Amino acid sequence: MASSKRVERDSPAGASVAGPFEARSGAALAGTLSVPGDKSISHRALMMGGIATGETEIHGLLEGEDVLRTAAAMTALGAQVERGRDGVWRARGRGIGALVEPAEVLDLGNSGTSARLLMGLVASSPVTTFFTGDASLRSRPMARVAKPLGEIGARFVTRDGGKMPLAVIGTAEPVPITYRSPVASAQVKSAVLLAGLNTPGRTTVIEKEPTRDHTELMFRHFGIEVTSVQTDDGALAVSVTGQPEISGKIVRVPGDPSSAAFPLVAALIVPGSAVTVRNVGLNKRRTGLFDTLREMGADLSVANQRVEAGEPVGDIVVRHGTLNGVDVPASRAPSMIDEYPVLAVAASFAKGRTIMRGLSELRVKESDRLSAVANGLAACGAAVEVSGDDLIVTGTGAAPAGGSTIGTRLDHRIAMAFLVMGLATKNPVRIDDASPIQTSFPGFMELMRGLGASLGPLAR
Ligand code: S3P
Repeated sequence: MASSKRVERDSPAGASVAGPFEARSGAALAGTLSVPGDKSISHRALMMGGIATGETEIHGLLEGEDVLRTAAAMTALGAQVERGRDGVWRARGRGIGALVEPAEVLDLGNSGTSARLLMGLVASSPVTTFFTGDASLRSRPMARVAKPLGEIGARFVTRDGGKMPLAVIGTAEPVPITYRSPVASAQVKSAVLLAGLNTPGRTTVIEKEPTRDHTELMFRHFGIEVTSVQTDDGALAVSVTGQPEISGKIVRVPGDPSSAAFPLVAALIVPGSAVTVRNVGLNKRRTGLFDTLREMGADLSVANQRVEAGEPVGDIVVRHGTLNGVDVPASRAPSMIDEYPVLAVAASFAKGRTIMRGLSELRVKESDRLSAVANGLAACGAAVEVSGDDLIVTGTGAAPAGGSTIGTRLDHRIAMAFLVMGLATKNPVRIDDASPIQTSFPGFMELMRGLGASLGPLAR
């Protein structure tokens, strides 16, 4: 596959982040930091820049492995994508409907967002594209996007259960559809909307629960009309009219709230800490964790709120304090779907019962996060229970014991959540492999150490 510039698996400071790592409690965390760019927005910026004619400049692109896979895939589909010496990424596309058939299999690594959104992008063009990924991605459900894209006219050859490796045989004559998504998934919505770009007429996705709207905002940023209207039954119908002409734009990617979650929760559970994360994306459909932490009694405030490139942004300031258990409704899940591992860690330090409801989607993330979180917390001495699709964590207000080694299961957020936990447990927490962290948060170790965290590799 044509490759864009690769960032080394090693962290920017040169220290390796592969293999087993340990986190132990120590001094209070203190300082101000910025986290890397938002993963969702970075993927979409590359995809739109890669089909728009002329140059798109992307400032603050997340240079994590997942996003680099999207950059390489867009190159394979005929775009020019490169990183300038100034750190700004530049993409030039050939126009909507001018995708080139990739000469090689697109290997999307660990990235479900790359896989599902790109399946949508190629579905409405007359190209055949082969997709694969790592063991985690090859085990994840793809039928959820193959179904609506099949209605548009694409054909799929998949492994049993709609899994990758798979081939998408795009259609030369896409038909516009109205699709009511049975799952609350921004990836499904985005795959259909991206297919709608090269489909004549109006393509509509109806979602029962509003999911992150970065595709809609990015479309609008590129001058594409998107409508979003409430249906009679309270759902949301999102529509795009296909075959617009789009040209390059400047995109500024805010810091990823899902990455900011790790230093912020670390500061909330390590006594005496005070941390500020600057330039965090505050799109309402992403900030469920911050709302929940506030309900738990966290001292968390937002400063310098502003809007950049259509997305709200601000600095988040937290101080350590007592947390209390809360009931997190299922309706909030889409706005914090990636934050449950680290919320569950926070809950294990809180006083009382935290019930996190309606988490069926957690079972089909980079790992089965419901079981990974429950097993990991139990191994660290926390009181945890899975009841149906609900996760229940009961804390005493004191630090859990820790002292275990957690298998990270090719899942970056499991790796980071348990390292955060180990910064405040009575005994250190180890993870068996830190390398998945590179998919979304290059520089995690250095940033955390910069705040005073005791994190380090273990001899293998
Ligand atoms: C994402 C949507 C979410 C999220 C993922 C990124 C996106 O997935 O978990 O990390 O960029 O659209 P689902 O759509 O499967 O919920």
